[in-house]
Amino acid sequence: MRSLCNDITPILAETMSELGLNESDWLNLIGNATDLSHGDIALPCHSLSKLLKRSPNDIADGIMLNLNMKLSGIAVASSINGFVNFKATDSWLSKQVSIINLDERLGVELDNKKTIIIDYSSPNVAKSMHVGHLRSTVIGDSLSRILSYKGHDVIGENHIGDWGTPFGMLIEHFLECDNIEVGDIDLKTFYKDARTKFDTSEDFAQRSRERVVKLQSKEPDTIDLWKKLVDISLIHFNEVYRMLNVLLNNDNLAGESIYEDILPDVVKRLDNQDMIVESEGALVVFPDGWVNRDNDPLPLIIRKGDGGYNYATSDLACIINRVENIGGTEFLYVVGAEQSQHFNMVFQVARQANFMDDSIKSVHIPFGLVVDSNGKKLASRDGEAISLKDLLEEAVSRANKSILEKNPNMSASQREEISKMIGIGSVKYADLSVDRNKNYVFDWDKMLSFEGNTAPYLQYAHARICSIFRKASLQRENFSQIEISIMNPHESSLSRVLVGFSESLDKSISHYAPHRLAVYLHKLAQEFAVFYEHCPVLVQDDESTMNSRLALCSLTARTLNTGLNLLGIDAPDRM
Ligand code: ARG
Repeated sequence: MRSLCNDITPILAETMSELGLNESDWLNLIGNATDLSHGDIALPCHSLSKLLKRSPNDIADGIMLNLNMKLSGIAVASSINGFVNFKATDSWLSKQVSIINLDERLGVELDNKKTIIIDYSSPNVAKSMHVGHLRSTVIGDSLSRILSYKGHDVIGENHIGDWGTPFGMLIEHFLECDNIEVGDIDLKTFYKDARTKFDTSEDFAQRSRERVVKLQSKEPDTIDLWKKLVDISLIHFNEVYRMLNVLLNNDNLAGESIYEDILPDVVKRLDNQDMIVESEGALVVFPDGWVNRDNDPLPLIIRKGDGGYNYATSDLACIINRVENIGGTEFLYVVGAEQSQHFNMVFQVARQANFMDDSIKSVHIPFGLVVDSNGKKLASRDGEAISLKDLLEEAVSRANKSILEKNPNMSASQREEISKMIGIGSVKYADLSVDRNKNYVFDWDKMLSFEGNTAPYLQYAHARICSIFRKASLQRENFSQIEISIMNPHESSLSRVLVGFSESLDKSISHYAPHRLAVYLHKLAQEFAVFYEHCPVLVQDDESTMNSRLALCSLTARTLNTGLNLLGIDAPDRM
């Protein structure tokens, strides 16, 4: 509990200096208590034992005795097994939670503004988006929202695969389609059909190769065809983005094609640094420390033998652009774990070539797979990747059914609106609520359930609070000025969670893990359920208790709403 640390540290500093300790000896030791029954924060004294030549228990006892007189209502200190534990008092909690309730930003302070570029989603043109694009898209979207909320300039970039040799065959295939009207292209099969023709017809393959040359020389008709293909794909991508309610649109496009013109310059710059080596006709860089299975140096291929450039080359150009034209200082790449080696090599080469210096932070943010109940990569029955659009449509229709069961009186139009929020929210939350490094099992029943760590559970907690106010004809906004008093352990526990919102965002940022925020929100909803079960809110005969409890309800709803929004999930007022 960071706010408690902040209040206690100056008092602790006095005690510690009386013991002859410097801040550097102990400040870093303070952290959140692991056992919450002992306290909120803890100071382990084991490493002080050597310095003070006393046992940790003895030190902890001494600190506790010295402190308890000085803590004046902020917290109570106790000493267990060489730890000093601090538990916030109810009076401290009620003051904190009242301050947060007054604050539009829920106690979340702004960070020093940085320009952060997040590279996410990044599907390939001429293919439909599939379930494999879900994680990058929703994790990247949530990180952008959280970082923006903390006051950063966040630039989302969608590094779509819209250039390269496959476009020769794609354009030729496009020309052979009877109907080249926008709506008539089926992206689910388009790429595969083109590939089949390429592999089976030498004539087609030859034309495709010639088409690549025309594309590379920017022959106008070929560029027109290429643009059409990109546009058709963008209509599809944007449709999925709108369904998913993510922030990406055409303004975020920064596909491989935009770097095409500066690729020769990348080669020149690398060559100026004497980094380019010719290897089997190709131009490559050998970054230090990388070897293949045979222990031979591993090259990063910059220009292939046929003169074409590589995926890595456009990523190097992209770094140059982000540094020199956009002026970003932090680059985040939300891309699957299988591209880890690619990014590590690219970052290393970019640093060595001085494309970016140490003032720039560049991070690959990998994630695990979406798997089926057998632990296999989620796929359709015929082994194809599952279309993201189909999956989202199914989510909404399943949510619609379950709302109809729960609430048969709701109007169809209202149900439709709410089922979008719940269906899409469920899919996103199932993804965001697991540690991104782990695989997770895609399970419809679990993610759409109103029980457990799910979107509907959190959304329902929010809707329930809204309904308390609605039924009593009260405005939630009127409760932000109310002083919250804590009279029982349930109010105390709920307040303890409420003061942790800001810290949960900081943890999400430091670990690049929206999952931390999800864990927090789930805990909040659970704690609210316990509070609501034990503490009657609309207690007519005791106005001050009623107002204080309503203020706790209101703050909980605002925190859930803001938190869910930062995950990119809507929180309906009724369900
Ligand atoms: N389009 C690429 C793919 O589908 C992902 C691009 C990720 N971003 C990047 N800057 N390389 O694998």
